[in-house]
Amino acid sequence: MHSGRRTFLGTALAGGAFALAGGRAAAQVGLHDMLRAAIALGRRLRRGEITPLDWQDAIGPTLQSCPADAIWDALRVEEVRRRVPALRRGASIVRVPLYEQLGAEEGGVMRLFFFEAGRGDPPHCHFNQVTAHMVLSGRFRVRHYERLREDPGGFVLRPSRDRVIGVGDVTSISELRDNAHWHHALTRGVLLDVEQGRLDPSIPIRRREMVDLEGTPLADGVIVAPRIERARALRLYG
Ligand SMILES: [Fe+2]
Repeated sequence: MHSGRRTFLGTALAGGAFALAGGRAAAQVGLHDMLRAAIALGRRLRRGEITPLDWQDAIGPTLQSCPADAIWDALRVEEVRRRVPALRRGASIVRVPLYEQLGAEEGGVMRLFFFEAGRGDPPHCHFNQVTAHMVLSGRFRVRHYERLREDPGGFVLRPSRDRVIGVGDVTSISELRDNAHWHHALTRGVLLDVEQGRLDPSIPIRRREMVDLEGTPLADGVIVAPRIERARALRLYG
């Protein structure tokens, strides 16, 4: 157990145990029920029953319905971390097949991101998908940017969020809000990543694209961010 993680009140009632989270009563469920709820949210988004903004508003409470330390234990994160080589730059990323095994839609995936202190997942844009990250251990500085438009060489971004998050906190991106993001580990830490891609299955798959944020901001704070190769992004930000 990690001392910084929220305490799990493990007495399961018929509809899930209840504990105080941030002053409000929040239903608590086990990992599988939480993941099924996240999968259902992705399915509703792909069917057009909810918008990407609805998904972003809902995914935080959905992930937080299972406490971070319960997720940590159920996924045996400590054991996984021992098997993952620490990288000099960036994060070590491990796919968790349980998400697909529980019925995730096409494009639905769950991963663990392992960071050493001072390392980062470089700033990047996502396309035709939503993603959320929950802190399972450690503290991270997380910066988000609105993707205003795309130019031949890169993207025009506007900073939207810059905050420090800790265990149990969740961040998310979509095409409509906070599309570009950059996680920098202030301590050794682990993020749980939940994604729903292929939102429009007719659009060819487009992987995330790294950007350089070092350009001079325009007068209104907008950044012209050139697209860069992953190796350069890791040297600059990883
Ligand atoms: Fe991302």
